[in-house]
Parts: sequence; C-alpha cells; structure tokens
Amino acid sequence: GPIHVTFPAKLTMEEVERKNPLVLEGGKYRPPDCQSTHWTAVIIPHRSREIHLKYLLYYLHPFLQRQQLNYGIYIIHQAGDYTFNRAKLLNVGFKEAMKEEDWNCMFFHDVDLIPEDDRNVYTCDRYPKHASIAMDKFRYKLPYKTYFGGVSALTPDQYLKMNGFPNTYWGWGGEDDDIAVRLHLSHYVLFKPTHIHNQIQKNLSGTSTRNKLYCYRFNLLAKTRRTWKQDGMNSLEYRVLSKEYHRLFTNITVDIGTDKGLKPLR
Ligand SMILES: *[C@@H]1O[C@H](CO)[C@@H](O)[C@H](O)[C@H]1NC(C)=O
Ligand SMILES: *[C@@H]1O[C@H](CO)[C@@H](O)[C@H](O)[C@H]1NC(C)=O
Repeated sequence: GPIHVTFPAKLTMEEVERKNPLVLEGGKYRPPDCQSTHWTAVIIPHRSREIHLKYLLYYLHPFLQRQQLNYGIYIIHQAGDYTFNRAKLLNVGFKEAMKEEDWNCMFFHDVDLIPEDDRNVYTCDRYPKHASIAMDKFRYKLPYKTYFGGVSALTPDQYLKMNGFPNTYWGWGGEDDDIAVRLHLSHYVLFKPTHIHNQIQKNLSGTSTRNKLYCYRFNLLAKTRRTWKQDGMNSLEYRVLSKEYHRLFTNITVDIGTDKGLKPLR
C-alpha cells in the first residue's frame, strides 16, 4: 500500500546504512530466504545531489527488499562541470551494470523521485514501462501523453532494440521525448500501469542544480526519426574514471566528454 514519505532532517547516510544490514557491498542485495527470478539494476544519473540521494536510498532499499528482488543500485556520476547529459549517463549505466551481472530489468531512475506506493513493483514487463506515472510536482498527472522521464523500466532486449537512449541531448529537456519517439519507431507500445504508482518530488530547497534548457531540443526531436539508429548504444563513447563500492551503492564516475566529443587522452 501507500508509503508515507517524510524527510527526517537529521538523517545521516550512516543511519541509512545501519537500517539496511543485509545490503552487500556496492548496494547489491539478494533475498536471504528465497531465490528471486528478478534481477533489477537501478541506474541513477547523478551530480551534486547528495541530499536527494540520501533520502532516495533511505526509501528505496527497504522498498526493494520488501519486493524480494535481486537488485543493485548504480550511481552514474558525470565528472567535471560540463552541462549534464542524463540520457548518455543512462546509456553508460546500462553498459557498466551489464558487465557486472546478468540483470534482466533496468530501472532508469531520477534521483529526486521516491516511490510512494509498494504496488509500484520494480520489475519489467512485456513492454517498456513508465513507472512514475504520477508525480506530485505535476499534481499526480502526467504533463503530456508521451512523457517518458522520471522512472522507466526496460529489459535489456527492449533497450537494445531501440538502440538505447540518445547521447546528444545536453542539458535539461527533450531527451525523454526522443526516447518516446524511439519506442514508437521500434514498435513498442508504452505500457503505463493503471493502479497507483505515485512518485514524489519534494522541494529540498537549496539542493537542486538547474541545468540549462537545451535550445535545440525541438530540432533534434524532428530528426529522431532519422538519427535513432546512429545515435545511441552503438555510438556511445565514454571513459570510466573511477568505480567505488560504497555500502549502499556503486559509484561509477565517467568522463562523457562534451557536445564536441571526447577529448583524446594526453
Ligand atoms: C522550492 O523552494 C524554494 C526555496 O524555498 C522556492 O524558491 C521555490 O519556489 C520552491 N519550488 C517549488 C517547486 O516549490
Ligand atoms: C562518486 O565518485 C566521485 C569521484 O570519486 C566523487 O567525486 C563523487 O562525490 C562520488 N559520489 C557519491 C555520491 O559518492
């Protein structure tokens, strides 16, 4: 049923760790008393949102354990301070996570969304799934029909069939629409669960870093029809700078370059 989401002011990461003694190094978990057939990797693009991350982990770990999943939580940290590129970080997350385990479901997850209901099951379906169908910032309605940001779930097969996500959207906006177009072009019907799957975004004031609105987003969108087969997993370039196994998550720091490409190594 519903989860009452609050933001305890004094919560520390150590306390979140203490509350999750069964989580293994790197933020991985296997149910101790059964064998789960679900292998879910949660991929979270991240930069300087540590407070959001703490609250998300506080709710997400117990939530996933109640669902008896095998799971792992990956933070994909964009190195440097160049404009954020959410979709490219998700591509990196997919590739890096698949190197570690044979995950059969990927949850692409924004750091500022917390599931508000246990019936929001973090498993994959026959069709790509948009899990954050209702968010409090949109008054529990979707802003428009094809919106595919927030939290989405795809099997590796579904993901590869649409060539992953676009690498070319720098800054905020547009990439989720591109993804929706990709789904359409690779003949997927977007599955939106009908029972309660609320997600919450609370205003943790002073902690959010706004990204530049991407000016060419509508240009690119018109091009998706032509570009999706060239821009995606098959054109992904990045460098892993570090990989840290924390108690509650794996932190993969990557250089994803700029919109001019990757700088060659000196
Ligand atoms: C979030 O909080 C800040 C600072 O208190 C405020 O300026 C801003 O309008 C709030 N945003 C929303 C969406 O409530
Ligand atoms: C991830 O690792 C990078 C590089 O060490 C570090 O700058 C960043 O703060 C780390 N992020 C988290 C959430 O631990």
